[in-house]
Amino acid sequence: MQSAVLVTAPIPQPALDTLRAADLDVRHYVAGPVMARDELLAQVRGVAGIYCLINDRIDGPVLDAAGPSLRVVSTMSVGYDHVDVRACAARGIAVGNTPGVLTETTADLALALLLATARRIPEAVASVHNGTWGAWKAEWMTGRDLFGGTVGIVGMGRIGQAVARRLVGFGCRLIYSGPAPKPEADALGAAFVPLPQLLAESDFVTLHCPLNAQTMHLINGATLAQMKPTAILINTTRGGVVDQDALYAALRAGTIAAAGLDVTTPEPLPPDHPLLTLPNCVVLPHIGSATIATRTRMAQMAAQNLIAGVRREPLPFAVIMRA
Ligand code: DGY
Repeated sequence: MQSAVLVTAPIPQPALDTLRAADLDVRHYVAGPVMARDELLAQVRGVAGIYCLINDRIDGPVLDAAGPSLRVVSTMSVGYDHVDVRACAARGIAVGNTPGVLTETTADLALALLLATARRIPEAVASVHNGTWGAWKAEWMTGRDLFGGTVGIVGMGRIGQAVARRLVGFGCRLIYSGPAPKPEADALGAAFVPLPQLLAESDFVTLHCPLNAQTMHLINGATLAQMKPTAILINTTRGGVVDQDALYAALRAGTIAAAGLDVTTPEPLPPDHPLLTLPNCVVLPHIGSATIATRTRMAQMAAQNLIAGVRREPLPFAVIMRA
């Protein structure tokens, strides 16, 4: 008998083809981009694998609803804060994600946000459309140089390093913080410093740490106050790393100069959210990994993880639970 798997959302066709070729009974939810919670709880019943996206909260109740047949949870994302890894481990359910494949694409987007905020690109584009572009003026639409600036990288993992590699070309001074120094950072000329020093010295602070209990609201009223009033904050990791109310207050008060966010709380951010009223806040709709090639590779990796898990084989890209 074929094992049933639930795919919770539309995904790139090549990954679906991979799943179907693996002789699985693929239950594919295509009625919308996100399954409602009660629908998810109903549809997981009896499946051997769940293929999910970052929108799906895969927690104890979902695992219980699936029952003892469930062997694997495979998320089409590198981040897995939406999956209760501990609850999966306790039930012997493997968890897979998609590390590495989206590193360069996400780093490109972090650079795009750095430049968009530093050079006020959205404001400048808007001026072309709304008629406020007048004669060339000496001090109109002036921004800040990324070139030569000090960039503080919070979290020197794969994506942090990829961002650092790009910034070497911009002549930036690089400093970073995290749980421990990274040998790979030496070749990039990046110096490990405590977070307070990073915040105090950086012209740009870019966040690349995962969201977990230690990093939740790492950037808050107190840490924002340690930054330079001319500094720019970039977040391409998870919205929860930043206390958004504190950020709004800091951007309004001039505690920091600007922010560029690819991730927010919640997602999508309501169009009437206060952050969207600020000219010095550039918000993108969580598109860090959104290139056709990268999303297709992520989808295929997640399919490989799902198939391996259903077959009780080691996952090619397994989430390792840290103590
Ligand atoms: C991830 O993979 O965790 C990103 O946030 C979405 O690509």
